Amino acid sequence: MNGIEQARLADAALDLAAQRVEAETGLRFAGARRRQFHAALGRMASALGHAHVPACAAWLADGPWDDARGAACARFLTIGETYFFREPRALDLVCEQARAHLARGEQRPLRIWSAGCCTGEEPYSIAIALRRRVPQMAPAMASILATDLNEAFLDFARAGVYRRWSFRNTDPADHAAWFRPVDEGRFEIDPALRAQVRFDCLNLAGASYPSAASGTLAMDVIFCRNVLMYFGPQQARDTVARLRACLVDGGWLVVNASEASPELFAGFTPVFHADAVFFRKDSQPQPAELPPAEPSLPDLPQPAAAPRARGRVAAAPAPRRAETPPRPDLMARARELMEQGSRDEALQCLRRAVEADPLSLPLQQSAALFALEHGERALAREGVKRLLYLDPDSALGHYLAALIEDAEGRRARALRLLHDCRRLAGADRDLDGAAARWLERLQ
Ligand SMILES: C[S@@+](CC[C@H](N)C(=O)[O-])C[C@H]1O[C@@H](n2cnc3c(N)ncnc32)[C@H](O)[C@@H]1O
Repeated sequence: MNGIEQARLADAALDLAAQRVEAETGLRFAGARRRQFHAALGRMASALGHAHVPACAAWLADGPWDDARGAACARFLTIGETYFFREPRALDLVCEQARAHLARGEQRPLRIWSAGCCTGEEPYSIAIALRRRVPQMAPAMASILATDLNEAFLDFARAGVYRRWSFRNTDPADHAAWFRPVDEGRFEIDPALRAQVRFDCLNLAGASYPSAASGTLAMDVIFCRNVLMYFGPQQARDTVARLRACLVDGGWLVVNASEASPELFAGFTPVFHADAVFFRKDSQPQPAELPPAEPSLPDLPQPAAAPRARGRVAAAPAPRRAETPPRPDLMARARELMEQGSRDEALQCLRRAVEADPLSLPLQQSAALFALEHGERALAREGVKRLLYLDPDSALGHYLAALIEDAEGRRARALRLLHDCRRLAGADRDLDGAAARWLERLQ
């Protein structure tokens, strides 16, 4: 066999292994991640005594999917990036739910699940947030399940000893209150908090849940952040469907903002925030009950006015719910209030408008433009995120995102977005022209 044939066979073995891994664990290694897969299989081969990468790939691809293969994938293919108080808006949601739970006089504990918990920073952050911000809730009234595919991560989490890097987003007061130094640069979590979290191994791509055996039934809030982004589309869909089945009606699924898409979360009502998207399992949006939105940033310098572009308004991909009651024209009211100089009320009205109708593409466009025109960059960013969620090919969404990135000093990203905007603008000459002029200024 010559070198080319050998390379082809090695590629084919890698393909088969990647397909098997995706089917069994959800983890997808296509495109740019292909090289990572090859490198990881190199490490796996040396650790497990396979002669070379193709031999290791063949072992993964053939034979029954046993514990050895599962453990090898968990050990060599998972990404362990996490830290305390990551994307903290989601912790506000948990605290809101805890207060509401107590206010309803519920006798059962609030049930929270950190799915893909990694080394434990996420579930422990939930436990700390509840202790500090909802002290009236007895610890026994919050049940926190934390699961992961990687047993080594879980052992680390159970030990509860962390290095400084895990605290890069932690309030020093929380650090001092809930951790004690054990040796040079390492800190141990308060044993009472450790006892509050139950760690278990669970493969999100498997069928072991929902089930009483896995303790995953009747969840109030599920965090599954920065996990689905590594999954193939089918496994991501199946996982979201299973997670949905684990939630009580009105329960919440929290993912990272970049993981959200209307197709994936069709059975949910989305609520958007700058660093996270919350999906509520119910059929009737009830904006009055939503947790308060993140406050907009004060006194931001106003980016240059966006063009009053028509944008490329595609048909909204997510169907509007037939039962959504008609809303008063909150957007028009927001404009009116702004013109009268009632800025705070106008912005409040704008928020109510977008929360009342989160799946309306034209509304999200108007809201994002309006926020940007009035220098409300944080609000505009949320609007753009919704816009791109509803229509990932929105030229206007790319244009507005570019303005925001530019205003925040991320020029390279702004340039890329403007190029994308021009590519997507098609026949929309206004928008294409505006993007071209902006590009000229930046280059
Ligand atoms: C990037 S970390 C995210 C940790 C945490 N959720 C956060 O946002 O900080 C992704 C985690 O998902 C876990 N994971 C990947 N595939 C999984 C699967 N099929 N089942 C369960 N956990 C999985 C990995 O082991 C890793 O701990």
